[in-house]
Amino acid sequence: MKNVLVTGGAGFIGSNFVHYMLENSDALIVNLDALTYAGNLENLEDVRDHKNYRFVKGDIRDKALVEQIFADYDIDTVVNFAAESHVDRSIVEPEIFLTTNVIGTQVLLDAAKRHWNLAPDDKYSREYKEGVRYLQVSTDEVYGALGKTGMFTETTPLSPNSPYSVSKASADMLVRAYNNTFGLPVVITRCSNNYGPYQFPEKLIPLMINNCMNDKQLPVYGDGMQIRDWLHVKDHCSAIATVLEKGRIGEVYNIGGNNEKANVNIVKLIISTMGKSEDLITYVKDRPGHDRRYAIDNTKITTELGWAPSYTFEKGIAETIEWFMNHRDWMNKIISGDYLNYYNKMYEQ
Ligand code: NAD
Ligand code: TYD
Repeated sequence: MKNVLVTGGAGFIGSNFVHYMLENSDALIVNLDALTYAGNLENLEDVRDHKNYRFVKGDIRDKALVEQIFADYDIDTVVNFAAESHVDRSIVEPEIFLTTNVIGTQVLLDAAKRHWNLAPDDKYSREYKEGVRYLQVSTDEVYGALGKTGMFTETTPLSPNSPYSVSKASADMLVRAYNNTFGLPVVITRCSNNYGPYQFPEKLIPLMINNCMNDKQLPVYGDGMQIRDWLHVKDHCSAIATVLEKGRIGEVYNIGGNNEKANVNIVKLIISTMGKSEDLITYVKDRPGHDRRYAIDNTKITTELGWAPSYTFEKGIAETIEWFMNHRDWMNKIISGDYLNYYNKMYEQ
């Protein structure tokens, strides 16, 4: 792993992963990001001039640009984070989810296939080209919703329920097909809900922290008893690095930390940690088609690859609340839209 293309590296998980890789490897990290509303270069201000970091502003759907990046940097590893990632937005505007998440993935797969010169019979020999790898960052939402019991394993049938999760499942199927048809050395990771520094404040945890800081109402969808399985973003990053290093080609690895919580209990925990009143909670209309419960069985990645999460939820959420309290300026620039000007200010030359 020498030259790693990280797509969507200016978003929440991508920017944490860029930091993780610059701290824990000697690889060159090339970050390709379109800087949609969810991309924020301020997340990477501290590494802007790092000798092993390059930023390219552009779209994963832009074939010519993607080809150029593979050629210019001799890319041997791809980690594809770039995506439209918010379920609520996918209900309002599904099309961009399909073009970015599905077509964008196909463009990256094609460029990898071409640049890595895969022989047509690689798929029969199963002797994959050494030293190259494509990792698709997927989500547990592709499995659909669980009832009160059970967990998602890697063999749970895909049954996505929202336009977002359908687009992610479709991308996973393409990744699988490029492995089967062309012998592309791929791995897929499916992680549960993340939280931590740099998360865009449209998602549950940063939204509630920000509203608490400003004594605003806390909008809980439906009865608030939907369950998510929360993982600190740094643990997600270490899991991806582990799968890149040791994961078996063609395999799927679920990532999660056995941490199921009902939404309203997360909101109450944030309220009490921040010394606010539960009167701020407002139950609002439920999300259409809202998945009731997600839970990850992480046996495969823990036993086969030896990965384990390092954060307890108590420690992670306390640190995350503190991070947002100490980065009010970062948050305020997002709320005001000012962060969108950062690229022009810093990169116009
Ligand atoms: P995010 O919305 O915070 O960031 C997405 C990034 O992708 C942004 O920087 C955006 O500018 C960029 N992007 C969007 N469209 C692009 C395009 N066409 N070309 C290039 N860049 C583009 O998302 P996130 O929460 O960091 O999620 C990252 C990945 O992880 C996604 O693929 C998501 O499906 C997956 N995932 C997220 C979670 C979670 O809890 N957030 C959990 C599991 C998996
Ligand atoms: P979200 O952070 O959007 O992640 P996902 O939909 O991918 O799981 O939402 C997490 C949970 O919180 C989900 O069950 C929806 C719920 N939710 C609220 O109740 N209120 C809110 O304002 C938001 C953004 C989410």
